[in-house]
Amino acid sequence: MESISQLPKNIRKHLSNEAYETDHTGMSDSSVFLFQDKILKIQKNTLEAETEYRMMQWLKDRLPVPQVYAHEIQGDVSYLLMSRCPGEMACAKKYISDPDLLTDRLAQGLKKLWEVDISGCPADWRLKRKLEQAQFNVEHGLVDIENTEPGTFGEGGFAGPKELLDWLYGNQPQEEPVLSHGDFCLPNLLFDEATAWYIDLGRAGIADKWCDIALCYRSLSHNYDGVYGDQHREGLDDLLLFRKLGLAPDWEKIRYYILLDELF
Ligand SMILES: Nc1ncnc2c1ncn2[C@@H]1O[C@H](COP(=O)(O)OP(=O)(O)O)[C@@H](O)[C@H]1O
Ligand SMILES: [Mg+2]
Repeated sequence: MESISQLPKNIRKHLSNEAYETDHTGMSDSSVFLFQDKILKIQKNTLEAETEYRMMQWLKDRLPVPQVYAHEIQGDVSYLLMSRCPGEMACAKKYISDPDLLTDRLAQGLKKLWEVDISGCPADWRLKRKLEQAQFNVEHGLVDIENTEPGTFGEGGFAGPKELLDWLYGNQPQEEPVLSHGDFCLPNLLFDEATAWYIDLGRAGIADKWCDIALCYRSLSHNYDGVYGDQHREGLDDLLLFRKLGLAPDWEKIRYYILLDELF
């Protein structure tokens, strides 16, 4: 954003000449501007941008999500102005330094998603749709193979995105459909004392319960093993999240959904 005066009118009218900070946490191509009590997210007007807007609206009476103030599309760019949620990201030091508290709150955050009645949910990311989208990404060269888990591609792994896609088509697990966040990683959850807020909803919709568990597990691990931030591996027991969830880890499904996410 060069200046507020260049924003679409419908967005601009909500912003006086307020100061803002720019976020550098997210890994997507979006630009996120943090005003004192509002957030402006500017991104390419893709299916994910549209889903984020629709899911934020649909979830507003169902879960703690940002309130949408305005949404505009200009050219191929989407502008979403929303409320700024209180609290700190789940990857804040306060939580990373207390794995018991962190996993407790993450597990609560997952379970609350699963309590939502999915009838009428405007986005469906069950494998049929999700694999079609993955295929689109592969066919259009949209897969970023640099930014993947070690071992996914190359020696001992898949030769390339197409081979991974074929494997994903051939090895689809049985799905347990729930409301899924779709990108359940630590920077996409904000905790205040009482509430877990869900942000970054472009991949939210109906999906298998294990999709979010897998991405939560991956994000949690990388926030301790040094991939993001400092290494504090000794501080994390791999099974803690599953104990908090009251579930035995289904490692096959976890692996499947982490691999599927490589194509997004
Ligand atoms: N509504 C919001 N309230 C508070 N912080 C937000 C909000 N939206 C985004 N942020 C902050 O900006 C970061 C990036 O926004 P996000 O929507 O996750 O974009 P990206 O697609 O780049 O990951 C978040 O991790 C969070 O720190
Ligand atoms: Mg994000």
